[in-house]
Order: sequence, then structure tokens, then C-alpha cells
Amino acid sequence: MALAPVRSTMTPGVQSSFTPFTDFHLITNRTAIKSLNLNWAERDLPERIRTKHVHRLHPYLGKFIPQLVEIFLRKYSPRVVCDPFCGSGTTLVQSLELGINSVGSDISDFNCLLTSVKTADYDLDELEREIKDICQRTIGEVHHRLLEERGVYIVDNYLSRWFAPAALKTLLLYRSLIDDYVYKDVLKIILARSARSARLTTHFDLDFPKRPQRDPYYCYKHSRTCEPTQTAAQFIKRYSYDTIKRIQEFSELRGDASVNIMHGDSRFLEFPSFDLVLTSPPYVGLIDYHEQHRYAYELLGLDWNASNEIGAATNGNSRLAKKAYVDGITATFENVLKFLSPKGRIVVVVNDKHNLYPEIQERLGLRLEDRIERHVNRRTGRRADDFFESILVWKS
Ligand SMILES: C[S@@+](CC[C@H](N)C(=O)[O-])C[C@H]1O[C@@H](n2cnc3c(N)ncnc32)[C@H](O)[C@@H]1O
Repeated sequence: MALAPVRSTMTPGVQSSFTPFTDFHLITNRTAIKSLNLNWAERDLPERIRTKHVHRLHPYLGKFIPQLVEIFLRKYSPRVVCDPFCGSGTTLVQSLELGINSVGSDISDFNCLLTSVKTADYDLDELEREIKDICQRTIGEVHHRLLEERGVYIVDNYLSRWFAPAALKTLLLYRSLIDDYVYKDVLKIILARSARSARLTTHFDLDFPKRPQRDPYYCYKHSRTCEPTQTAAQFIKRYSYDTIKRIQEFSELRGDASVNIMHGDSRFLEFPSFDLVLTSPPYVGLIDYHEQHRYAYELLGLDWNASNEIGAATNGNSRLAKKAYVDGITATFENVLKFLSPKGRIVVVVNDKHNLYPEIQERLGLRLEDRIERHVNRRTGRRADDFFESILVWKS
């Protein structure tokens, strides 16, 4: 299929009349990205395509679109790409799919765990056997005996507030069995995903529930009265099979490339060298990245490092918070630039509504090689978005 000469006429507030570009495999280093219409609406790039294979092993708020990453990886075809805010690992997964070596880092222990589960190489038969075995032991008949044998009991803490007793017992039993297996990290992600769905919360507020919902409530998502879930077994079963399927799908696609995941504060980490940075940094006052997966930190005993998050929502977006944000992002890129090859590029995807990036660019002494504006208009559920996202291409 020929590369359609689609030119976006988009200016803020104006809908493009051209069909958005979806022939991603046709991108080469000669493609002028600016000439492409990247203003995908839900029908152009439906959620199931944006969350293909391992990208949906666990929900994650603030992820970028894998297809956008693919475009820039194909355009610049780096030897090694670095994402210093790798989050749920989109850049690393897409790099692996294209056979490109990658390095990623994140301050959040859970995000690093998720990224490593997405990118690891598995003995698929053994993985399937283990996932089905722990699932059967947790929710099959044998679980009554195991609950006693393993001494699973509930104490008064975060978990007992956010889960109904029966659901929590199932989750704690699953957790107690994880050490019996080789693929522990995959099982931790299945447990975390099940826990997320089994929380005492409303169906329409799974992202940031403020308090446990114990009573029936009017559900905006289903337009009827719903009850908070009392059990977790159904989620463990569903996500066990879904995980097997997604990892199998990705195993058919993954290329031969190295993936290096580092857990820590990207302002201070020592990276291996690379020739492209492709990243979407946290934005000021928008999301608390540790808090969004609090249930996983509590269940899995992960390292809580929220105070070193740049731009955390808890810190708001006051003048002071913006200054701290600009300092934090500048310090991260200053560090990252030390490991970038001299002809390398930095591609930053950001919704810069406070116009902070011109100052960051200036402080870093970088040159703006390209700037692409993208209209984000995905109307799904109650989290309907409609905003502009910039893609900045910097060179030193
Ligand atoms: C917008 S998200 C990145 C999402 C990612 N592009 C994806 O597709 O999943 C920003 C990430 O920056 C991380 N972060 C915030 N402060 C950091 C720091 N000081 N060092 C490293 N990572 C940090 C957050 O934990 C979060 O995962």
C-alpha cells in the first residue's frame, strides 16, 4: 500500500478532514512526520489496538500510544533508545517489537515490575502451567485447606479497608503461593490487576477512588444500581487467562533486542549510552504515579518512593510547584544528555498547557528541530479527553 500523502490542516479547535494515518509500517527515515495526520479518534485507533498484547497486562493511567512510539522509532531507527520516564514500558515494548535495544528507568517500583514482565522472555508452556496451577490452587476446592495451612488471616490495615473479607482472603492466599513458582513477577502482576478490580470501589472510578464504597450505589457506567464486589476469584481467573494470551501474542512479535530496566530517580542514574531519547515525562500536578497503584504496593510490599516523583498531583500546580517541576525535568534531561551520542535526538511527548517546555529547552541549551501538534480526542467512558499534545524533537 502506498504512503498516502495525508497533510493535517489541524489548528487548535479545528477538526481535520483527512483520514488519520495508520500505515505505521510504511514510516522510514525520509517520512516527514509533520505531513501525517496523527489526530486519531477512537474509530481510527480503537482502544483494543492501542492496548494490544502486553500493553494491557495491567491498567496504567498516563501511558502513551504505542503506535506513536512506533512512528518515531521507525523514523529515527536508533541503535539504542532510552526512556527515562518509562512508566508502563510502552517505549521498551515497541522497541523490542522492532528489534531495537532499549533502556528505561522509572521512580516507581511497580512500573518497573510491570515493564519487566512485559518485556521478559518466557518458556511459554511452563508459564501457562504455573499461571493455571496457582489459579486453581487459589480458587479451586483445595483453597479451603490451603487457607488454613498457609495461615491466611486479615489484620486491620489499608487492605482490610479496601477489600471485602472474602476477596481479601483470596488475594492473600494467592500472594502466599507466589514463592512456589519460577515466574513470580508475572503472578504478582496478575495479583495486582485482580486486586485493582476487586477493590471496594464504584465501577466508574477505578482510576482514583477516594474512599472505599461499601454500599450499593448508582453506577454511571452501567446506568443502574450496582454493588461493590465481595469476591476476587472471578478476576484472578479472568486475568490469568488474559495474561497467558497476551504474553503468547507478544512472543510471536518480539524481536531480538536487549531491554535494560533501571529502578530509580532518573536525575541521578548512570545510563548506558544511547542515540535516541523517546519519552513522555510526568506533567505538573496531574497524576500521583505511586498512589494510582497503591493496592499493589500494599499487597506486594514494593518500595514506596513517591516523594521523588517529579510533578506529583499532590504537590498541585502552584507557581512553586511549577518551578520545582521545571527544575526536576531539566535536571533529568541534563543527566540523560550525558549518555546521549553527539548526533542523537530527544523526542518528548507532552501536553504543555502551562507552556513550561520552552524554558526547559532553553536551560538545556537544546535546539528545536521539529514540533508536531496532535489533537487528542478519545471519547471513551467518563474519562473523555479532548486536548492538544505536542511532540518536541530536540537536538543539541
Ligand atoms: C507520563 S508517565 C510515562 C508513561 C510511559 N510513557 C508509558 O507509556 O507508560 C511518567 C512517568 O515518570 C515517572 N517519574 C516521575 N518522576 C520520576 C523520577 N524522578 N525519575 C524517574 N521516573 C519518574 C512516573 O513514575 C511515571 O511512570
